[in-house]
Amino acid sequence: MAEQESAPSGIDTRIPNMARMYDYALGGKDNFAADRAAVEKLFSFSPENKDVPRANRRFLRRAVRFAAAQGIRQFLDLGTGLPSQGHVHEVVAEIKPGAHVVYVDYDPVVVNHARALLVDSDSVTAVEADIRDPESILAHPDVTRLIDFSRPVAVLFVAVLHGIPDRGDPAGIVRAFAGRVSPGSYLILSHLTSEGHPPALVAQKEEIFARSNAPVSYRSRAEILRMFDGFNLVDPGLTAVTQWRGDDLDRKLDAAGQWWLGGVGRKE
Ligand SMILES: C[S@@+](CC[C@H](N)C(=O)[O-])C[C@H]1O[C@@H](n2cnc3c(N)ncnc32)[C@H](O)[C@@H]1O
Repeated sequence: MAEQESAPSGIDTRIPNMARMYDYALGGKDNFAADRAAVEKLFSFSPENKDVPRANRRFLRRAVRFAAAQGIRQFLDLGTGLPSQGHVHEVVAEIKPGAHVVYVDYDPVVVNHARALLVDSDSVTAVEADIRDPESILAHPDVTRLIDFSRPVAVLFVAVLHGIPDRGDPAGIVRAFAGRVSPGSYLILSHLTSEGHPPALVAQKEEIFARSNAPVSYRSRAEILRMFDGFNLVDPGLTAVTQWRGDDLDRKLDAAGQWWLGGVGRKE
C-alpha cells in the first residue's frame, strides 16, 4: 500500500508491468512488489529462466554492434524498456559516436526515465508512443528530426512484439515500418518463442503475463519468421538469441536463449 501511495500518479503498482518485470529480471531497481512476485514465479518454473532477459539483452547488444559496423548511423528502438546497461546509444558510441538514436516506448515511466537518465541531445531522444500506431511514430517531429528515412536506418523490435496479440497484427506493425525505410536498412527483432517447448510450460508462463499490463504470446518459429517479410536474414538467420553470433558466455546461457528467437534482416 505504501508503494502505491508513493508511486507516480496513474501508476497502479498492484498490476505487474512488462517494463518493470524486465527491469527486475535484469537486476534493476525500478520495480514494485507485484512485478517482483510475477518474475519470481516465472523463475520458479525452470532454472534457466533467470537468464532469459540477459540472453536477450546480449543479443540486442551484438545486433546493434553489427548494424553499426555495417555503417548504420540511425537507430529507431521500439519498446526500448527501462534504461539498463548497454542502451543502444552507448553500444553504438563504442563504434561510432554521434549516431542518431530515437527511443520509443508507450510506458510514460520508461520515457521519463529515458529523458532523465539518458542524454536528450542533438543526437538521442525518447518519444512516448505506441507501436500499434506506426504513423504516429513515423510522423513524430522528434523522430523526423533525428531519423532521415531516405537513408538506411536500423529499426529495433527487441522483446516487444510478443506483447501484441494476434488481433493486433504484429507482422503488420513491422510491415508499416519496413515500408518506410530505405534499402540498406536493417530490422533487429527478437521474440519469445514456444518453439521446442512443452505446451503446458508455455501456458504456465503466458498465464503469469496474462495478469500483467501486457499479456504475452509465445510464438512459433514460422510466425516469427513472417515478421521478417521484405528483409533478407543475415547469417546465421533466425536463431536462439544466444546462437546469433554469440560467444562462450552466450553458449553458457543457451538454455535461456532457447526461449527467444532473434535475427537481423536487411532490406535490399
Ligand atoms: C521487455 S521490454 C524490452 C526492452 C528492450 N527492447 C530489450 O529488449 O532489452 C519491452 C518494452 O516494450 C514496451 N512496450 C510494450 N508494448 C508496447 C507498445 N505497444 N508500444 C510501445 N512500447 C511498448 C514496454 O513498455 C517495455 O518497456
